[in-house]
Amino acid sequence: MDHLRVRPAGPLSGTVELQGAKNSALKLMAATLLTSGRSILERVPEITDVAIMGEVLESIGATVSREPSGALAIDTPEVLVPVAPYELVEQMRASFVVLGPLLARHGSARVSLPGGDDFGSRPIDIHLRGLTELGVEFTTEHGYVEGRCDGLVGTRIVLEFPSHTATDNLLMAACLAKGTTVIENAAREPEVLDLATFLGEMGARISGAGTSRLEIEGVSELSPARHETLPDRVEAATFLAAVGLTGGELYLPDARVEQMDMLLEKLAAMGMTIDPSPAGVRASSSGRLSAVDVATLPYPGVATDYKPLLVTMLSVASGVAIVSENVFAGRFRYVDELRRMGADIRTEGHHAVVRGVERLSGAPVRAPDIRAGAALVLAGLVAEGETLVGAVEHIDRGYEDFVGKLARLGADIERVVEHAPGRAPL
Ligand code: UD1
Repeated sequence: MDHLRVRPAGPLSGTVELQGAKNSALKLMAATLLTSGRSILERVPEITDVAIMGEVLESIGATVSREPSGALAIDTPEVLVPVAPYELVEQMRASFVVLGPLLARHGSARVSLPGGDDFGSRPIDIHLRGLTELGVEFTTEHGYVEGRCDGLVGTRIVLEFPSHTATDNLLMAACLAKGTTVIENAAREPEVLDLATFLGEMGARISGAGTSRLEIEGVSELSPARHETLPDRVEAATFLAAVGLTGGELYLPDARVEQMDMLLEKLAAMGMTIDPSPAGVRASSSGRLSAVDVATLPYPGVATDYKPLLVTMLSVASGVAIVSENVFAGRFRYVDELRRMGADIRTEGHHAVVRGVERLSGAPVRAPDIRAGAALVLAGLVAEGETLVGAVEHIDRGYEDFVGKLARLGADIERVVEHAPGRAPL
């Protein structure tokens, strides 16, 4: 397995060009199944999750390739193979998001049930209930969920929780349903808005995108479109956290600051200087950060994906902070790894008490998931000695050129390749 070797190197400084948002790109790719022809998606990051989604689309019959410009071209055929196999869904839960488009376009779909993952159990009941209300009948057999419908019919759906991917799945399905669908308590994440924008470019009629009430007037067909993926706010948060930890100065020219209000407020409360503008965000930091309490919530609250980054910052801040996880019950696994580096963190249910220590100490650790993996790398930037972050393939799932971008800011980081590379990024 490859490792990242990280050593402290003082303050970071420079500019980072953000990749396209992973959580948007994957859904934009799935949305191309709603029509036949060639769609072009710009600013799709070169990460493993995109490669996996590419394989899912190819198994369904699409052709996925990079244009010389770097844009992703997806050609979808007239007739689809409406199956998402276990081998792929198991590797990336988000591939379940092909279910809505397949049902809308093909009237049937067979998609492997996603298993649990490092966030703990992740049910799909909200997806299935919403699609059932649109007229789908589901059976579950041999680890697959199989849905059939004789055309979808618009209706009013109230989500029990504003699930991000359930909103994506229902939104995409509703575009080709007969009549009007209303989704209440919809997820308001900027990536849902990005998906709705792309669907609009394909010919869908959606109002309320970005709010908790989506209204979709079904159309009989959509057409391929060209779209530029939203910049990745979690990648932005990662580099902001890096500079918060090491000190220094950072400019993120592409950051959509209006989509990061709560995070930027937290970082400022911790002592960072944050200068947001329509042209991105400048941030700087010097001296030790101060502890602030953090509670994750669906957007526009503090994203659960930011939490490992914030916990790492708090682990060396002055004072004690209480961190509450309100989105995924089991999302504190990486805390054991931070403890191995000398952090003083106690977890109890969905709360953690983080007592800032003066210094972390480098150690071999394992990346348990994408964001926690990145957070451990950041911990290594301020830990005495050497930190070796293993299971780097988790970081590769969501970050394009993570090592290169950090190194160009002045970080002492290198990838230690210990075996032949696995799947190449798409
Ligand atoms: C998406 C993001 C992930 C982010 C999360 C929360 C993608 C690919 N992933 O995940 O990075 O951390 O949003 O912002 O976009 N739930 C149910 N039943 C369901 C669906 C969800 O009970 O049918 C629960 C989950 O267990 C969890 C909560 O709802 O407790 C939120 O999950 P959800 O918003 O669906 O997360 P994802 O869309 O899977």
